[in-house]
Amino acid sequence: MSDAYEYVRIERSDGIAVVMVNRPEKLNALNADTVAELDRAFHALAADDSVRAVIVTGAGEKAFVAGADIAELAKMGPLSGVRVSRQGQDTFRFLEAMPKPVIAAVNGYALGGGLELALACHLRIASENARFGLPEVKLGIIPGYGGTVRLPRIVGRGRALELILTGEMIDAQEAYRIGLVNRVVPQVELMTEAEALARKIIANGPIAVALAIESVNHAQNATLEDGLLLESNLFGLLASTEDMREGMQAFLEKRKAQFAGK
Ligand code: COA
Repeated sequence: MSDAYEYVRIERSDGIAVVMVNRPEKLNALNADTVAELDRAFHALAADDSVRAVIVTGAGEKAFVAGADIAELAKMGPLSGVRVSRQGQDTFRFLEAMPKPVIAAVNGYALGGGLELALACHLRIASENARFGLPEVKLGIIPGYGGTVRLPRIVGRGRALELILTGEMIDAQEAYRIGLVNRVVPQVELMTEAEALARKIIANGPIAVALAIESVNHAQNATLEDGLLLESNLFGLLASTEDMREGMQAFLEKRKAQFAGK
């Protein structure tokens, strides 16, 4: 498949696709074209059966993504502002709902829309030099790609409001302390760690992984009863898969399971 992208690079290897936001001279800031390319890339990877996990990162050693492109945002009016926000939200929502694990490998500044992109990923790994923040209020706006919605769910309302209202940045260790990232590693090890984590996940039953993501995602928007109901239905559905028989048989035979995704 040819990937004609200007601001996004995609590399596939052994079931893992790395999506790199590639605009390093602007610290990978998300202009409208980059968001559109990310949307296209995420849809292509979701439909590609050879891809079992996705890693999102930024080009260079300085930035993951330093936010939405302020030069473009400066020109927005009320209606285009709503449209820009909805487009980014839709793209990130699609990513979050993807039935394959998505890991953010945060290699530097993750600010504004960059932090919001990382928040839409299922897991986040940061390099030691990473910095996180939602500086929108410093520009007279608020986060528009899901930051006010996802950040409180991940780190709690008080911590999220502190970041959103001050617009200040935190470093990787503080991000780890508040549960914003799963782990912090030296920058040279970032991609190896992200790939190792992806490999651990894709060694498991792919249908189970997909339905686990679906259950967790659904539970965020559901009542306790609704969440539990879907969980038990998905749990039961997995009993119809060859993967369940293989996983349990392999355990009983003291061997490694070979999942076919059926
Ligand atoms: N939108 C547009 N351009 C951006 C950008 C953004 N969000 N973030 C960085 N850039 C551009 C800079 O304008 C500069 O371009 P230039 O070389 O043509 O002047 C280039 O990227 C390098 O950034 P610079 O500010 O010179 O790097 P720095 O090391 O001095 O500072 C940051 C790094 C991240 C602290 C700083 O770039 C910054 O505050 N960026 C904006 C963050 C933000 O508010 N994001 C939320 C947007 S809603």
